[in-house]
Amino acid sequence: MTPVLETRALETTTPVLELDDVALSYRGSAAPVVRDVSLTVRAGHSLALVGESGAGKTTLLRLLLGLARPTAGTVRFDGEPLALRDREQMRRFRRGVQCVFQDPYSSLDPRRRVGAIVAEPLRSLGIADRRTAAPKVAEALERVGLPADAARRYPHEFSGGQRQRIAIARATVCEPRVLLADEPVSALDVTTRVKIVDLLAELKQERGLTLVMVSHDLSVVASLCERTAVLERGGVVEQGDTARVLGDPAHPYTRRLVDSVPRLPG
Ligand SMILES: Nc1ncnc2c1ncn2[C@@H]1O[C@H](COP(=O)(O)OP(=O)(O)OP(=O)(O)O)[C@@H](O)[C@H]1O
Ligand SMILES: [Mg+2]
Repeated sequence: MTPVLETRALETTTPVLELDDVALSYRGSAAPVVRDVSLTVRAGHSLALVGESGAGKTTLLRLLLGLARPTAGTVRFDGEPLALRDREQMRRFRRGVQCVFQDPYSSLDPRRRVGAIVAEPLRSLGIADRRTAAPKVAEALERVGLPADAARRYPHEFSGGQRQRIAIARATVCEPRVLLADEPVSALDVTTRVKIVDLLAELKQERGLTLVMVSHDLSVVASLCERTAVLERGGVVEQGDTARVLGDPAHPYTRRLVDSVPRLPG
């Protein structure tokens, strides 16, 4: 039967990223912010994290990035526990997993030219020096639809949508396998939003990029992510195939989330 075969095929590939029974409590807070979360990110199966404000979505991304340490459970990268002191693993990790933060204004250094900002991962990972970085930066900027002279300009000379493109160029310049994106389109107007979604879809298709994305916009989730995990107060209430989770929710919380999407009258 096909479903069984599909499941087996999925199980034979090692997950790129994995959370295994992860919990996180902040010092002084009564309830854990994340509890008993198990998630698997496999190549080619982009994952959306959805849930109300405060559900713990950004915290999960921070755990996946090693920016927050779990109080219980394990975060794995390519099947191995993430060890921040293992320099060799960290290098592979930063090469393979990049991120775009929610706010394209605060995440770009205003004093540096866009060319230097986009080149930063190439330099810090030792992939390229000043001279050899230039063509890679130009290619990354072109890929996200920015003009060739963008490299010489400063972040404040660009619009919000363009800055989000700069952030995506920086995160993809070293050809990562996984891109973690926290609300990558929420600060943008509808037209720009569509363009960024198209860009992410193109990166998935042409570069084989796997996305792990937080979004309140369920239509964006449905168009970009094969899988969805629904978070409520730090716990995953349901996860699975996006079409199934959003089309036929098994959990009342997911149903409320889906039903709360505003619809145009008529
Ligand atoms: N540094 C911190 N110290 C204490 N509590 C924190 C800290 N960071 C986040 N929290 C708490 O953890 C919970 C989850 O926060 P998180 O930012 O992950 O939510 P979110 O799902 O990303 O929400 P939003 O959709 O508003 O971005 C919240 O209750 C928040 O107050
Ligand atoms: Mg958040």
